[in-house]
Amino acid sequence: MSEAEQHSHTITIEVPASAKYSNGRRSPLAKPGWQYVEEAELADFSAEEWTFLNAQSAEYSTEERANAALRMLGTLKDDPSFGYQVNTYTHCLQSATMVMRAGWDEEDIVTALFHDMGLIVCPEAHGPFSAALMGPLVSEKNYWMLRHHQIFMNSHSDNDPSFTGDKDAREVYRGHPHFEYTATFVDKFDQNALQADYDTASIEVFLPMVYRVFARKPHAVPVID
Ligand SMILES: [Fe+2]
Ligand SMILES: [Fe+2]
Repeated sequence: MSEAEQHSHTITIEVPASAKYSNGRRSPLAKPGWQYVEEAELADFSAEEWTFLNAQSAEYSTEERANAALRMLGTLKDDPSFGYQVNTYTHCLQSATMVMRAGWDEEDIVTALFHDMGLIVCPEAHGPFSAALMGPLVSEKNYWMLRHHQIFMNSHSDNDPSFTGDKDAREVYRGHPHFEYTATFVDKFDQNALQADYDTASIEVFLPMVYRVFARKPHAVPVID
């Protein structure tokens, strides 16, 4: 078999020549007065370079973390639906709107806003995806909810004839301190946040809350299952 035949299923993506290489151009620095590290390998950085790099990196992360998360969520805005009345973006905003209207606190609202951000790109692990994003910024209650909400959805899929998993899979966690919170979130603000005619708040409503939650000092996430 020729090499061409071996790779006959390789998908070739045409990339504009201008996008293939950096051509020696540096990405612009985020702020005036900031410096580049001149070396391109970590092992060659000097102590002085590590010092200013760490300071710049910490400042950048603090200020841009919320923007980066909002950009990621925003990429879903105009997605088509795979069958639900609304796409994942609207589902996330609708869930957050429902949490807000129920009078739950700001952290819970922001958690709802991002709870399914990974649903399309990594559906099998979209709970841990959002948990990794939000965990360092929120309480253990919301971290646990994000990690486990997928199997709590199983309990609402009674009429799905193709479902081969365990519809009672959540029962293994009954009695856990965050079981009832997670069950309530999924029941009231997730499995039903698929409504085209619901008065869903726009992203602008949530922005001040997102910036406040993302401005929190990140903490280590607990090791849980
Ligand atoms: Fe989900
Ligand atoms: Fe959801």
